[in-house]
Amino acid sequence: MGTKTKWAVITGASSGIGEEFAYRFYDMGYSLVLISQTREKLSAVEKHLLKRKRKAPERRQEIKLIDADLGEMGSLKKTSLEIKKIFQMEKFTEDSNLPAILINCAGFGAVGEFTDISIEKQESMIDVNVKGLVYLTYEMLPIMEAAGGGRILNVASSAGFFPGGPYMTIYYATKSFVLSFTNGLRRELFEKKSPVHISALCPGPVNTPFNARANVRNALPGISAKRCVSAAISGMKHDKAVIVPGITIKAAELGAKILPAKAVIPMVSHQQKKKI
Ligand SMILES: NC(=O)c1ccc[n+]([C@@H]2O[C@H](COP(=O)([O-])OP(=O)(O)OC[C@H]3O[C@@H](n4cnc5c(N)ncnc54)[C@H](OP(=O)(O)O)[C@@H]3O)[C@@H](O)[C@H]2O)c1
Repeated sequence: MGTKTKWAVITGASSGIGEEFAYRFYDMGYSLVLISQTREKLSAVEKHLLKRKRKAPERRQEIKLIDADLGEMGSLKKTSLEIKKIFQMEKFTEDSNLPAILINCAGFGAVGEFTDISIEKQESMIDVNVKGLVYLTYEMLPIMEAAGGGRILNVASSAGFFPGGPYMTIYYATKSFVLSFTNGLRRELFEKKSPVHISALCPGPVNTPFNARANVRNALPGISAKRCVSAAISGMKHDKAVIVPGITIKAAELGAKILPAKAVIPMVSHQQKKKI
């Protein structure tokens, strides 16, 4: 048997949490497929990665970049084909290099009253946060199963714990979807003894460009992307179903579970209004 290269496929890798995942998996010896909309940003990440490689030139690692709008079905299909081409699926053998990790991290939010945010933006949010994540999971799961194993991490949010998120209604709903989808699929994979494991990452606020893109004016203090990703990688190693970085967010999760929706939603509303 030849020596297989370990590959991680990371969406949203041009910025914030996804970018940090790229650095961490690269430092762990993985070759990378990095995906986001913006080629220039991906190239900048690649430059940083290559600088890190100079410290360990003996490592044979590859970096492939794919720029694609993961909210658009045509782009999603093209992305999936490109990934399959990278892994030369048509020549698949036992020794083929196939992805061991899929991090579905691409996503965005928007703050404001429902009718103040354009329908196009909200539709795109559903498409990227939900449709893109589901599509790539659907396409990659059989490949990982054929390869004999792998790990999928779906980046949801603490927003997914709450029964509703006024002033960020669509974003909260997309993240509830991601959490529910991941929990359901995790059980299916367990019951069929799949070699692929899946987890959800549910961070609270993380200091990344996310808030600026979401039009958040008064951001709550967040943790660093480094801390978030450390918790994520540790959670994946322990095969946790839901990974929640930080004690404050764990407390919020507990609150959302035990308090009635009619008490929780006004509290969320109060917090969200501060962001506008
Ligand atoms: N930051 C937080 O407070 C926080 C908290 C909980 C959960 N999250 C979740 O964490 C994930 C990453 O967010 P982040 O904080 O790292 O924000 P970020 O720095 O804004 O990164 C978002 C990433 O998603 C990519 N992306 C957005 N729309 C895309 C599209 N249509 N097609 C392809 N890629 C697209 C971006 O690529 P381009 O730059 O090329 O557009 C970028 O790489 C998101 O799913 C977010 O919901 C964030």
